[in-house]
Amino acid sequence: MNASPHAFTAHSPAAALEHPEQYEHAEQTTDFLPLKGTDHVEFYVGNARQAAYFYRTAFGMSLVAYAGPETGQRDRASYVLQQGKVRFVLTTPMRSSHLIAKYIHLHGDAVHSIALWVDDARQAWLETTKRGAVSVAEPYEISDEHGTAVIAGIAAYGDTIHTFVERRNYSGPFLPGYRAVTSDPVARPVGLLHIDHMVGNVGWNQMNEWVDFYARVMGFSLYQHFDDNDISTEYSALMSKVMANGNGYVKFPINEPAEGKKKSQIEEFLEFFPGPGVQHIALATHDILSTVSKLREQGVEFLRVPHTYYSDLQQRVGKIDEPISELEELGILVDRDDQGYMLQIFTRPVEDRPTLFFEIIQRKGSRSFGKGNFKALFEAIEREQQLRGNL
Ligand code: FE2
Repeated sequence: MNASPHAFTAHSPAAALEHPEQYEHAEQTTDFLPLKGTDHVEFYVGNARQAAYFYRTAFGMSLVAYAGPETGQRDRASYVLQQGKVRFVLTTPMRSSHLIAKYIHLHGDAVHSIALWVDDARQAWLETTKRGAVSVAEPYEISDEHGTAVIAGIAAYGDTIHTFVERRNYSGPFLPGYRAVTSDPVARPVGLLHIDHMVGNVGWNQMNEWVDFYARVMGFSLYQHFDDNDISTEYSALMSKVMANGNGYVKFPINEPAEGKKKSQIEEFLEFFPGPGVQHIALATHDILSTVSKLREQGVEFLRVPHTYYSDLQQRVGKIDEPISELEELGILVDRDDQGYMLQIFTRPVEDRPTLFFEIIQRKGSRSFGKGNFKALFEAIEREQQLRGNL
């Protein structure tokens, strides 16, 4: 896969949207951007070999493919990690003059591309650029002995891009140019299944611009929204809208900061990233008790909520299958809506910069993103911000 040519400037959609609620009930007769799901997430990192070791041992991902100088990709090395349908690509440049090195200098180790799986990458690129997307890679083919894949890319918020990946005529381990890695003795799987959602933080008053981008340019619709009355603590607040594609396989909540007494967690992210970027990736499991126990044993650090959170939990969420004592021991949160309940927990940032973190989520009918947990959770985040001196 070629390096995506792109400039490190913020791309702002042309038109701001005054009434995003119009998308809530919009009738979609045809989906002009049919997505089969998230194909992979590509991170640019300072040292991909070591970052891969972290995601294999701590998060239990398996190394399945590699491309680098040994395989003819002379300017960078990429490690493809997989668990269930979750696929991460960790890429590092070989030389400091590489464009990727500039990205890392600016943002640290970070998500660069949210790649979407499509049947027709040319069509996806045409439909989105026609609607105002900024192209970062015109459709191109790459081939090897396993067939041909088609790749294209458009700009999203900040320096994040969406890559369209068409692989219907490709049967290799990942993409042309990658060598399969057949077994991974280092990986310690924890039961991660797929990406539930990926959240972007954008700047002050930019949320609706990006809601409009996902609606107008990508055909997504509004799934849920929260305002600062839902999401506020004494100090910090945010506003959030969740955009989902036509079949609901891809969900992108977009956050912006809201006024609070002190610096909000979103402002902290925007200062240190700096600018808009991916805040967290939510990974789904069928058994959160087992997954989180293993992740803890393997060194993943999670946010803790106070024990008082659990004292009225039963009253708040009603009957649940999991013993509350076990949830409390692991620090797992619960929220309920009219369709069921969900269990979730958040890691501490996985970088030294207070930027990217992960969520582990198990849905039992609920479509919630954890609104009922925001207050307890944000107070936990603020305790950490306080420790970092950023509150
Ligand atoms: Fe989330």
